[in-house]
Amino acid sequence: MRIVDLRSDTVTLPTPAMRQAMFDAELGDDVMGEDPTINRLEAMAAERLGKEAAVYVPSGTMANLVCLLSHCARGEEAIMGHMAHTFLFEAGGSAAAGGIHPRTVPNQPDGTLDLGDVEAAIRDPNNPHYPPTRLICLENTHNRCSGAVLTPEYMAQVRALAGRYGLKVHLDGARIFNAAIALGVTAAEVASDADSISFCLSKGLSAPVGSLVCGSADFVRQARRQRKLLGGGMRQAGVLAAAGIVALETMVGRLAEDHANARRLADGLASLPGILLDPARIQTNIVIWEMAPGALEAAGFAAAMARHGVKVGVVAPRRIRAVTHYGIGADDIEQALTAAKAVLEEKPA
Ligand SMILES: Cc1ncc(COP(=O)(O)O)c(C=O)c1O
Repeated sequence: MRIVDLRSDTVTLPTPAMRQAMFDAELGDDVMGEDPTINRLEAMAAERLGKEAAVYVPSGTMANLVCLLSHCARGEEAIMGHMAHTFLFEAGGSAAAGGIHPRTVPNQPDGTLDLGDVEAAIRDPNNPHYPPTRLICLENTHNRCSGAVLTPEYMAQVRALAGRYGLKVHLDGARIFNAAIALGVTAAEVASDADSISFCLSKGLSAPVGSLVCGSADFVRQARRQRKLLGGGMRQAGVLAAAGIVALETMVGRLAEDHANARRLADGLASLPGILLDPARIQTNIVIWEMAPGALEAAGFAAAMARHGVKVGVVAPRRIRAVTHYGIGADDIEQALTAAKAVLEEKPA
């Protein structure tokens, strides 16, 4: 039986062109700034994101941590959504490694933070009871909000608010190219209102390892020091970056296919009794739905789907996530829908 793995776009494997580029990569000591392949990838990333500079790091988690450590000192506060990946799934790194106080405000279902909530969360700098606010963190696309896209207009509003209070804006752009494709704009436009951006090569772009931190030359100098502090200075890492270059050159445009497959999946699932899902909310490659009251719980549904060869992720007791990516075609979506129908018929809602 073919296995259709929809748990995450992190399961993607490198393309043959990536493997060849890794084999052929010109290498040097990157901590000394001498790996030509890393240098090329960093220059490409900065150019694509419209920033002065970029630095390659091992993971999205380290990319966000390096950014938070560069913006905030110990005891300072970073505002972020209560469903931000950085808040939920990065092992509390900014608090553990940086003494940074995370201040959450509710994420709206569309991934945004209400501007009134953000403004209300900004501390009075003259009151010694408070940790000083330094940073507002956004996530685009928003993982836990079904891959929702923040618009450049919204980002500009956050930038303006941050500017009024002298705060910086960090964008967790792990999937920034999905956002750009969905919006029909460049990644640089999506990033234009952020002081720092992290983005991942190893999700929809299918490279095996790596993320980039982009920002001003000054910011990236600090980020490079934080990367070293965290043990993320990798020597001949051009062997990995070579795949990242191929990812940026060849894998961005095809993200539209993943979005179309996600929409097809969402439309099909929404028509099944037992599944609560508004397909109009699916803008990119992440489909999240609720199991209706009376239907199987998420864990039972996921286990039954796995028996039909389809892997999905459980995100809450009644909530499931499926992510489309390179290697998942229209046939696989059909297999997933057939499996879901069969599972729901085995245990009717
Ligand atoms: C929005 C977002 N940010 C950051 C990360 C962290 O990336 P990594 O798994 O490479 O550490 C992820 C991973 O799924 C993510 O979805």
